[in-house]
Amino acid sequence: MGRLDGKTAVITGGASGMGAATVRRFIAEGAAVWIADLQVEKGEALAAELGVDCHFVETNVGIEADVEAVIAAAVSATGRLDCMFNNAGFGGVGGPIDETDMGPAYQQTVDGLLTGPVLGMKHATVQMKAQASGSIISTASVAGLRGGMGPHVYSALKAAVIGLTQSVAVELAEFHIRVNAICPGGIMTPIFLGGQELKAGSNTTLEDALRPVFSTIQPIPRAGEGADIAAMALFLASDDSTFVTGQAMVVDGGLTVGRRRITAPEESPMRQALADLVDEDSE
Ligand SMILES: NC(=O)c1ccc[n+]([C@@H]2O[C@H](COP(=O)([O-])OP(=O)(O)OC[C@H]3O[C@@H](n4cnc5c(N)ncnc54)[C@H](O)[C@@H]3O)[C@@H](O)[C@H]2O)c1
Repeated sequence: MGRLDGKTAVITGGASGMGAATVRRFIAEGAAVWIADLQVEKGEALAAELGVDCHFVETNVGIEADVEAVIAAAVSATGRLDCMFNNAGFGGVGGPIDETDMGPAYQQTVDGLLTGPVLGMKHATVQMKAQASGSIISTASVAGLRGGMGPHVYSALKAAVIGLTQSVAVELAEFHIRVNAICPGGIMTPIFLGGQELKAGSNTTLEDALRPVFSTIQPIPRAGEGADIAAMALFLASDDSTFVTGQAMVVDGGLTVGRRRITAPEESPMRQALADLVDEDSE
């Protein structure tokens, strides 16, 4: 018995990273899955690997007809849509605020990171209302909750995804459609390559390179994995979460709640700064 037996899911950005990890987990739990992604080769290879219940449709989440088409494909094949996971994303325009590129790169960032989730919600809702159930999940970020965790426009759009989630959750609750967001912390995925390819023939994987860095950035002393986000997406897609809506579920190893102490107490900079000032006999 899988936790998603008989359910149908569309996962945007499902060809790579945490989306691909979620595709694998959902298939293992019995769902039929439609991967919606720009990356045709990777998406088709993953669908072929995972068998007849896994499908790929080339999709740009910023284009309404594309989002409508992948949802229509899933609904016409299975007669259902139980989970819409708006997960596609990328870093988008970056740099200092006074140098922000306001040209096509800016529009592409807004289209991918905000229009994508709006379109996913808009078109998933039609079938989910008809069946009076469903779970819409969108990938936001800890960057939507705090400053300094991503590029400015990215952070603003991720905050907007959380606002959109809360707003739409209220409207759709009466139809038993849940709308939630996931806020990942640092997760080792190809997003950090910024579209660049790995060198051919290297013995080092992306994870090998990132793991030492990602193990130290949050209180839990290991790197965040795509599987960590897949596990939260599974909870939100499953019937275990039928009373959970409007939430931004943070999966960050404690990154947003506190700093990890990396120095021994006796070596703490504050202790050292106070060492010459305090009268040790006064204790
Ligand atoms: N990796 C992290 O540390 C981290 C942290 C917080 C949030 N996120 C978010 O997680 C989500 C998944 O990212 P990831 O880290 O797995 O990166 P990734 O690069 O491995 O995967 C993102 C996928 O989205 C696809 N995509 C991008 N733009 C698209 C578009 N317009 N239409 C369709 N597909 C598109 C890409 O082709 C890619 O396959 C993104 O929304 C990202 O912003 C990532």
